[in-house]
Amino acid sequence: MEILQTREDIRTWRDKVSETVGFVPTMGALHEGHLSLVRQSLAENARTVVSIFVNPRQFGPNEDYHRYPRTFDTDRRLLENLGVSVLFAPSVEEMYTAEDEVLLSLTRMSRLWCGGYRLGHFDGVTLVLTKLFHLVAPHRAYFGEKDFQQLRIVEKMVEELFFPIRIVRVPTVREPDGLAMSSRNSYLSPRSRAQAVALYKTLQYIQTLIPKYMLTEPLIREARLYLTDRFPEVKLEYLAIVDEYSLEPVEHLSQTAHPRALMAAYIEGVRLIDNLPLTIPADSTE
Ligand code: PAJ
Repeated sequence: MEILQTREDIRTWRDKVSETVGFVPTMGALHEGHLSLVRQSLAENARTVVSIFVNPRQFGPNEDYHRYPRTFDTDRRLLENLGVSVLFAPSVEEMYTAEDEVLLSLTRMSRLWCGGYRLGHFDGVTLVLTKLFHLVAPHRAYFGEKDFQQLRIVEKMVEELFFPIRIVRVPTVREPDGLAMSSRNSYLSPRSRAQAVALYKTLQYIQTLIPKYMLTEPLIREARLYLTDRFPEVKLEYLAIVDEYSLEPVEHLSQTAHPRALMAAYIEGVRLIDNLPLTIPADSTE
């Protein structure tokens, strides 16, 4: 595995490769969720590039940029053992300058849900991915459904800006109790870790309420009661049922063929997100 750190080196490498290239952008602190993206890329492409870059532009001023877990040596070994061709790990100075002016925003999708609470977050994501896509020029890029809003935003950006890249969706990898794997799970104390399953449990509970409830307002109300009852220490940020394509909320489940429940919550100051596609039984007529 080659470890490349500059724009010039990754471009030189890319120019020499004529086979298919798969790309997995990450911020490191790799876990099985990341590795499932890498494995899929390895299976579908002759070469796989993984990037590790903790992108300062997608963190708010009061967020965890400085304490975000950095485990480069372990990450490097994991990727090497899997058979990755290139690990691209640029410095902040390689990716940004103090004179940078370009902003890349999605006017609607980046302002919904997480974007409404983490102002500018998705602008930072779309900017860094645009830069990375230009440098790596992959045929396919792999994204986890764990960050579903991010995935939709990337799909939309690639479509609208004519990036010649196929975005591949990879299902969420979970711990045995259902907690979605995340680099931020390492922030959880044993006590909060026990509560963290609340998100997945709530999403599953929503599914059990269908088709009894087809109107989403009472459905969400009931799910919020379940959450406060069973997991009183979890502070809900948002819980929404949306159309998976537009990410807009739906009032009645019959309004979409692809509903998805999205949520974000804090546990002892640690912010977690999760989501689940919802299925509507074919014979529900309510
Ligand atoms: P990061 O949080 O490191 O995630 C990198 C990729 O791994 C994303 O596509 C994310 O959705 C996926 N992933 C994380 N946890 C997962 C899980 N439990 N199951 C499946 N996939 C999972 O997301 C980012 O980094 C950054 O925003 C990035 C896209 C790299 C831009 O900076």
